[in-house]
Amino acid sequence: MHQSLPPLLVGNWKMNLGLGESKKLAQEIVEGAKELKRTSLWISPSPTALESVAKVVATSAVQVGAQNVHFAEKGAFTGEVSIAMLTELGCSFSLVGHSERRHQMGESNELVIQRALAALHAKFPVILCVGETLEEREEEETLKVLEHQIEPVLRSASEAERAYLTIAYEPVWAIGTGRVAQIGQVDEAHTYIMSLCENDSRIRVLYGGSVTPENAAEILALDSVHGSLVGGASLSAEKFLKLASLSEGL
Ligand code: PGA
Repeated sequence: MHQSLPPLLVGNWKMNLGLGESKKLAQEIVEGAKELKRTSLWISPSPTALESVAKVVATSAVQVGAQNVHFAEKGAFTGEVSIAMLTELGCSFSLVGHSERRHQMGESNELVIQRALAALHAKFPVILCVGETLEEREEEETLKVLEHQIEPVLRSASEAERAYLTIAYEPVWAIGTGRVAQIGQVDEAHTYIMSLCENDSRIRVLYGGSVTPENAAEILALDSVHGSLVGGASLSAEKFLKLASLSEGL
């Protein structure tokens, strides 16, 4: 774990929990977070639960954010949500470019870049999710893909805006599959991403993809890893908090 930035764990609840379940899980996380000294916990519930969960975490250090955000301030964008709308609900960050958005919902890299840049221009913290498909890895195109997904954002963000950027490296083939990347693969990708970011000490690079308390220790211990974006295991307060206590010790 990188020493200059406190570790960050982000729970991506995806489309899994209704309102009652979301509030209950958030409450359990708030309780557990009281024990933490270094690790920050951020959670991303469904859009319908954002406002209620924001109220549950309001007096704690836990932050709530969205799973996606649009680049425009307002207009004819059916189904989309703006930065101002999220802020109004109590959100303090958003994911963009999650692999499920890119590969299931057909979001182009250009659209993801627009979303990320709008957030950075508004100084709204954003987690840019990146990662290669299995085919791209087998073709040895991983680093090229990462550059294509990250470089345009860095190029168009100002020095001050870059401070609001977090990058989540999630190999597409490792998300929800139980298949975790090998430690050398994680380190290579993270080190490359940090070099693209000119080793900017304000930018965290999180690892994601089938992370659980059982497999996280070695990954979180890497110098190039500043925390994790957790899907399945973040739906259990016990597992998410176990990951947090693991990262506290590193
Ligand atoms: P997973 O999801 O931990 O269930 O693989 C990670 C993610 O999609 O962010």
